Amino acid sequence: MWEIKVFDEDRELLEFIAEQLLAYSLRSDPVHIALSGGATPKALFQFIAKSDIRDAVEWKNLHFWWGDERMVPDSDADSNYGEAKRLLFDLTDIPAENLHPINGALALESELARIDEESQAALDTLHGWPSFDWVMLGVGEDGHTASLFPGQVDYNADTCWVPASHPETGQARISLSAEAIGHAQRVSYLVIGAQKAEIVVKVFADDDSADEYPAANIYSFEGDTEWLLDTNAAKLFMADEG
Ligand code: 6PG
Repeated sequence: MWEIKVFDEDRELLEFIAEQLLAYSLRSDPVHIALSGGATPKALFQFIAKSDIRDAVEWKNLHFWWGDERMVPDSDADSNYGEAKRLLFDLTDIPAENLHPINGALALESELARIDEESQAALDTLHGWPSFDWVMLGVGEDGHTASLFPGQVDYNADTCWVPASHPETGQARISLSAEAIGHAQRVSYLVIGAQKAEIVVKVFADDDSADEYPAANIYSFEGDTEWLLDTNAAKLFMADEG
């Protein structure tokens, strides 16, 4: 299923996700979730850290991964894992073994092999691919998602994790591949802010102009894909829809 949900307030969007996390945590089996990076999820981490939901979540049932990571130490403000740990996980009782970061301080190639081995060992599979229960993604103003940038994406990569580099800064990254994300049970794009309004229109275009934007081509093949937008990010798209 492919769905767009627009929330009047950012808080409502964050509350929706927090409640989904709570629901996943009450399942009987362990749940594996890949988080997005960048600024948007920081608002989510801060929201959960301050909400009653934080102490209601059964953190021991949730395992967190990162859909992409910058190859920097986790003390660096650019570290997706480092920021999630500082803003949320250090404030919970989640067992350390439930956090599966990419170690950005290590050599990319060896870390790529290690995280691939770890995810192959930990996750259930779908058609032979490790299958995350939930992959949260953001979208850049150029239409990238995770660290899958326009013109850089191999949609037929046969590995779960791929090396990448930021097209402007050259920053080395490790990212889930498009194929790996496609084998997730659920893919959710979290999009907040007026600065994303234009790319939302481009990604949702129903002609092949959207093809150049990775976020338009990356979705759950057999599960659910949803776009969770605040009204600022959705405003141009909603205006076009009339
Ligand atoms: C990253 C992300 C990246 C991010 C988008 C949106 O590591 O940078 O995974 O794909 O989701 O760039 O970033 P913002 O939330 O900062 O706009």
